[in-house]
Amino acid sequence: MATRRLTAAGWAAVLFGVGVLAVAPARAEEPFCFDCHDDFPGKMKAFAVKHDPAAGGECTACHLDHKDEEKLMLVKEGAALCLECHDDVAQGTSVHAPVKDGKCTACHNPHGSANKKLLVAAGTALCEKCHAGGTEFKRKVTHAAIDDCSGCHLPHASGNKRLLAKNLVLDRLSLFDPKDAELCLDCHDLDAVTKTQTEDTGFRMGAVNLHALHINGGAAPNKYGIVKKKEGQTCFACHLPHTADQAMLLRTEYQCTGTFCYTMRFVPNEKGGTCVVGCHKPRTYSRDGQDPSTTAEASSAGRPITR
Ligand code: HEC
Ligand code: HEC
Ligand code: HEC
Ligand code: HEC
Ligand code: HEC
Ligand code: HEC
Ligand code: HEC
Ligand code: HEC
Repeated sequence: MATRRLTAAGWAAVLFGVGVLAVAPARAEEPFCFDCHDDFPGKMKAFAVKHDPAAGGECTACHLDHKDEEKLMLVKEGAALCLECHDDVAQGTSVHAPVKDGKCTACHNPHGSANKKLLVAAGTALCEKCHAGGTEFKRKVTHAAIDDCSGCHLPHASGNKRLLAKNLVLDRLSLFDPKDAELCLDCHDLDAVTKTQTEDTGFRMGAVNLHALHINGGAAPNKYGIVKKKEGQTCFACHLPHTADQAMLLRTEYQCTGTFCYTMRFVPNEKGGTCVVGCHKPRTYSRDGQDPSTTAEASSAGRPITR
């Protein structure tokens, strides 16, 4: 004991601890750790959200009685400490790097916090601790959904790529199935992108849904009104999820394969817009169905880029 550096309050607790317990039996519930760490109960009280084992005084579930050591003296290192009681948090084919590396405390305070789920920061601030930099979040047009990363990502692990909460096909082409765009269709209307005739999307020529046309590989309905599906464009082929340099979250480069890309220029107007891409000649669509002329501004053709 003599080798421990104790505060006056700590010594007082050690020397008079028995007496204190005798006059105040309520303290008998408290872990012996508080004898010396007398500021800890106050700290715990201040947390709006408390971790059950810490609030319950089970300090030794995580810490050793440290005797003469002045270290954290955790019973286990890294994630192993937490996985002892939470063995189901990291399930999925893609596991978030800090979870894989056992850095649970990069996001959670082990004792308590002002935030829900013991998080060290609230909302996007948590993710921004590590993902603030980079152009990905800093382009001109921002997706309204960006205020909540958890609208699209799981924090620990997922069965989908990129920790996505729902499936989204990221490959260039796919045979469209609503399951390919589960993520986007969680918030956006399925009919607006799949009905061949609609007024529920801005991307239409009159009532002809250009979303449906593109995601179905350009196929028009046959005489029975049935669209025979071919490989089409995924949402991710035209739109970016976080921020983009063009209106409507449109890419400036059509989703590239390998080292080959096309520029993609979108010139919106009040009735529709013009798309200048490598896939077809510049095309203008108009929601009033009037045959539009290609605007002068958009007259240069999409050009291929080779990196
Ligand atoms: C006899 C007094 C005493 C008791 C009892 C005691 N500690 Fe400590 N503890 C200390 C001293 C002194 C230090 C050195 C660091 C300091 O000054 O806070 C320390 C350090 C620690 C540290 C490292 C703090 C840091 O910032 O690195 C942890 C964690 C800790 N104790 C937890 C516990 C837990 C949990 C218990 C009960 C299982 C406990 N202690 C019981 C006196 C004590
Ligand atoms: C669920 C596991 C867990 C429980 C239960 C727990 N701790 Fe901790 N404690 C930790 C971890 C992990 C750290 C290191 C945090 C870090 O590295 O940021 C820590 C750090 C500390 C520290 C040093 C940093 C600080 O916040 O002051 C003290 C002192 C401490 N614990 C005391 C206690 C006491 C006293 C109890 C019981 C009331 C307790 N702990 C219960 C996991 C736990
Ligand atoms: C001794 C068992 C035990 C250990 C070890 C443990 N926990 Fe917990 N934890 C619990 C219990 C019990 C609850 C409350 C019931 C529940 O939500 O499962 C809980 C709840 C949580 C919650 C949810 C809190 C809320 O407000 O809903 C988080 C987050 C958490 N623990 C993180 C951690 C982290 C991080 C570690 C490692 C530093 C850890 N736990 C270690 C027992 C433990
Ligand atoms: C990148 C940050 C991050 C890391 C690293 C992290 N978590 Fe979490 N964790 C979260 C977020 C965010 C939530 C809240 C999810 C929600 O609101 O449903 C959470 C929730 C939890 C919960 C509560 C689950 C529930 O459904 O209530 C537990 C338990 C938990 N985490 C344990 C851990 C453990 C154990 C580790 C380390 C293996 C860990 N976390 C690492 C961010 C993280
Ligand atoms: C403690 C640092 C840290 C925090 C906090 C953090 N991340 Fe990460 N995250 C990483 C690292 C490291 C990687 C892997 C390297 C990279 O891709 O930048 C990563 C990768 C990712 C990936 C790509 C995964 C993949 O399979 O390619 C996503 C998505 C992600 N993080 C989302 C989030 C979200 C959402 C949050 C907030 C809940 C968050 N991150 C908080 C460190 C962190
Ligand atoms: C609307 C859905 C959505 C929201 C909201 C969202 N993401 Fe993403 N995120 C995605 C998709 C889709 C991908 C895969 C894109 C790719 O592979 O380039 C992705 C990829 C990532 C990646 C890995 C690839 C990269 O660009 O580095 C990180 C890190 C990431 N997101 C972090 C975040 C953070 C932090 C937030 C909140 C500020 C957030 N995301 C909000 C859909 C979303
Ligand atoms: C968590 C909900 C959520 C998810 C998931 C989501 N979005 Fe959004 N998105 C919104 C909200 C809210 C708006 C703004 C209001 C509106 O136009 O509906 C928006 C607007 C848009 C816009 C119009 C942008 C503008 O500048 O007007 C596009 C394009 C878009 N989202 C595409 C996508 C794509 C592609 C996905 C899948 C990768 C997706 N969204 C996933 C919520 C979401
Ligand atoms: C061929 C490129 C392309 C593809 C593929 C594509 N979009 Fe779009 N999207 C556009 C264009 C162009 C607009 C702008 C329409 C306007 O307002 O003039 C748009 C607009 C939107 C909007 C804004 C509201 C609206 O309907 O006008 C949302 C939301 C949206 N897209 C979601 C999606 C989703 C979800 C998918 C996948 C199922 C998808 N997009 C696939 C080009 C595309």
